[in-house]
Amino acid sequence: MTKPVILTGLRANSDLTIGNYFGGIKPMIDMATTRADEYDINMFIPDLHSFTTPIDHGTLQSQILNNARIYAAAGLPLNNEGIRLYRQSYVSAHSELTWILDCFTGMGEMNRMTQFKDKSTGLGDARTTVGLFNYPVLMAADILLYNAQYVPVGDDQTQHLEFTRDIAERINSKFGDVFVIPESAPKQHEFFGKGQGLRIKDLQDPTKKMSKSDESGKGVVFLGDAPEAAHKKIMSAATDDKAFIDLDRTNQPGISNLLEILALLRGASLDDVVAEFKGQAKYGDFKKVVADEMAAFLTAFQQRLVAVDDQQIYAKLASSEKTVSEVANATLLRAQQAVGLRSKD
Ligand code: TYM
Repeated sequence: MTKPVILTGLRANSDLTIGNYFGGIKPMIDMATTRADEYDINMFIPDLHSFTTPIDHGTLQSQILNNARIYAAAGLPLNNEGIRLYRQSYVSAHSELTWILDCFTGMGEMNRMTQFKDKSTGLGDARTTVGLFNYPVLMAADILLYNAQYVPVGDDQTQHLEFTRDIAERINSKFGDVFVIPESAPKQHEFFGKGQGLRIKDLQDPTKKMSKSDESGKGVVFLGDAPEAAHKKIMSAATDDKAFIDLDRTNQPGISNLLEILALLRGASLDDVVAEFKGQAKYGDFKKVVADEMAAFLTAFQQRLVAVDDQQIYAKLASSEKTVSEVANATLLRAQQAVGLRSKD
């Protein structure tokens, strides 16, 4: 019997941030460690997505390995066959399905994608690639190939998830049942026990998302940051002059972000953390609690990272890539038959 699938991936370029960790990795690891008997878990490395914006290609191989090591250090159990760890480019069905989906995707649909607008700003025409424009279609293929129902991602990916549902519904209504439709964003949040999609903010400018492409790095905590450096970044996070701690994302985005980060670091509910600190006037004392917690988290994480066994990773990648190719190729064949590229007999 096939189990429902939970799937996610994180692009392999530059160092991952705590936004990536809490938005994409942690919810997946929680599922992998508690519910792997009920769900198939697909954790993959979207290496084809990694150069939709310019990168140093000489480091891509090490970035790919590093991503896999990070998943392992975060607690992905490598010895369970129902948990798969694979590289996107090793399963050629991703590229093949993308082309088919491309031909059912409207230019207007892609033009509306806010991530494309954000990421292309500043790149200029020559460096803004068709690959970047097309990125959500490849992401849809990543999800649909494995009949995934649940896709833990941060809030910035919600629009891409909605597009995945739209393209799958469009193809199904034209050709019959080809794809499993992933759950809607609200159902995803419910499944992962959250009220809304997660969006950790930049520490220096808490009106914008914490992002690995941030130039200065001052507002971003990377998983590879020295714990003391991360401590400093939290202590110098921008706040406000109200001298009253409260969760108010509009008027106190900096303090609200720190409350959210603390809840995630502690694995506590946001309500409990807000109740503990609400009304306190000394932001410095509160920041120190968050900074200490962050430094302790990074210290423990980095200790686990150096202990990861690369040979075990390579063996896991090879065995998973074999298993998932079968699932992906079966879906690809359904799509090829639907559009008339393969006969149905
Ligand atoms: P990527 O690599 O940009 O980000 C990886 C994950 O981290 C989340 N994230 C955040 N969550 C909360 N707060 C933040 N500040 C923050 N910054 C990043 C992202 O939402 C994401 O979950 N397109 C994807 C990779 C991908 C994928 C897929 C994901 C390719 N195919 C299929 C799921 C399913 C991306 O570029 O994520």
